Amino acid sequence: MAIAKCSNCEEPFERLFKFCPNCGLSVLGEGFTDKAGVAVRDLFEIAKTFSAVLDLELLLQKISATAEKLTQAEASSVMLLDDNKEYLYFKTAGGEKGSVVKTIKIPVRHGIAGWVAKNAKPLLIQDVSKDPRFSAALADEKSGFKTRSIVCVPMIFQDEPIGVMEVLNKKVNAPGGRFTDDDLDILQSLAGFAAVSIMNSRLTQDQKNFFANTMEILGAAIETISQNSAGHCWRVAQTSCTIARRLKITGLQYKNLYYAALLHDIGFIGIPKNQPNLHPAIGADMVSTVRLLSGASPLIRAHQELWDGSGYPSGLKQDSIPLGARIISFVENIENLRDSIKKENPKTTEKEIRVKLEHYASENIDILFDPQVVAAYLVEVSPSMGTPA
Ligand SMILES: [Fe+2]
Ligand SMILES: [Fe+2]
Repeated sequence: MAIAKCSNCEEPFERLFKFCPNCGLSVLGEGFTDKAGVAVRDLFEIAKTFSAVLDLELLLQKISATAEKLTQAEASSVMLLDDNKEYLYFKTAGGEKGSVVKTIKIPVRHGIAGWVAKNAKPLLIQDVSKDPRFSAALADEKSGFKTRSIVCVPMIFQDEPIGVMEVLNKKVNAPGGRFTDDDLDILQSLAGFAAVSIMNSRLTQDQKNFFANTMEILGAAIETISQNSAGHCWRVAQTSCTIARRLKITGLQYKNLYYAALLHDIGFIGIPKNQPNLHPAIGADMVSTVRLLSGASPLIRAHQELWDGSGYPSGLKQDSIPLGARIISFVENIENLRDSIKKENPKTTEKEIRVKLEHYASENIDILFDPQVVAAYLVEVSPSMGTPA
C-alpha cells in the first residue's frame, strides 16, 4: 500500500524515504535542502558509472572531483596506506597543486590524515592552525598549498582502514564559508565508493597474478611430463603470438591463441606414454571446463592437424583447421625441429639453425603449413634470430 509518492517522478512508495530511490532527485520530507538533492543525484550518477569505469585511477579521480564539487572545496585527495600501514601515499590529488602533492608520502604517526587513517575516525577541522595534529611540514610546505580547513574521512574495507579521503579549504565564496556535517556525510559516502572500487581492483589484480602464476606452473609441469625441451611451451606461445600480431589477430581470439599455445601439450599429463597421439583431444577436454580457457580448447584439439590433412586427430584440412591451431601447429613443428637439430649437434650456431628452420618452413609452405602463417614467420620471427653468416 503506497503511502507516499515522489514529487519528481511520481513513483509510489510503501514507506517514506529521504530521497527517491527511483530518480534520486526528489526530496520527500521536511528540511532537506536542494543541495542534498544535488548531492544524492551526483552519488547516483557515480553509482551508475561505477561498474562501467574499469580504470581505477580514473574512477578515483571522478570520486575525488565530485567530493570537491559537492563540498565546495578548493582541493581534494585520496590517500592509500602502504602494505605495512606506516605511510600514506597520494592516489589522486585535485586542485591546483595536485601534481606536486602526488609525489609526497606521509607517515601515519603525523598529521591529520595520519590520525584519521590510524584511528579509523573522521575529522572536521575548521581551523587547522589551532589543531596540534596539523603539520604544515608534511604536505603544505612541499606543495605550496596553504591548508586552512579540512574534512578527512577514513576509507574502510571489512573493518580495516585502507586509506583516507579529504577535502581542503571551503571555497571563500561558498555559502556559510565553513565545512558542515553535511559535507562530512557526503565525503563518507564517497569514501565508501572509493574503498570498494579500490578493493575490487586489487582483487582483480590478484586474480590476474594467480592466473599467470598457475599458467607458469602448468607450463613447467607439461614440459616435464611431455619430455619437451625446457621452455618449449613459452617459446611456442611467444612465437605464435608474434605471428598472430602480424596476422592482425586481436582481442579474445588473440588471448585464446596465447592460452592455447602455452597449454597446447597439457594432454600429455593425462595419457599413457605409448599413446602420444591422444594428447590433443585429452588436452582440449581438460581445459574446456575452465571458463577462461574454453576458447582455447578447440585450438588445443587441432594443434597437431596439418594443412594437407595429414595431421591428427581428425585429419582436418586447410581452412577447416582454426587459424590459431594452424599457427600453433606450425610453431610446434619448427620448435621440435630446432630441438632435434640441437640434439644431433649441440654445437650448431643460432644462425645455422635459422637457415635450417627457414628452409624447412619454405619447403613445406602450402603443404604442411598455411602459407600466410609461414609468410608471417619468415617476415616477423625469423629475421630477429640474426643474419646467417
Ligand atoms: Fe603437441
Ligand atoms: Fe608441443
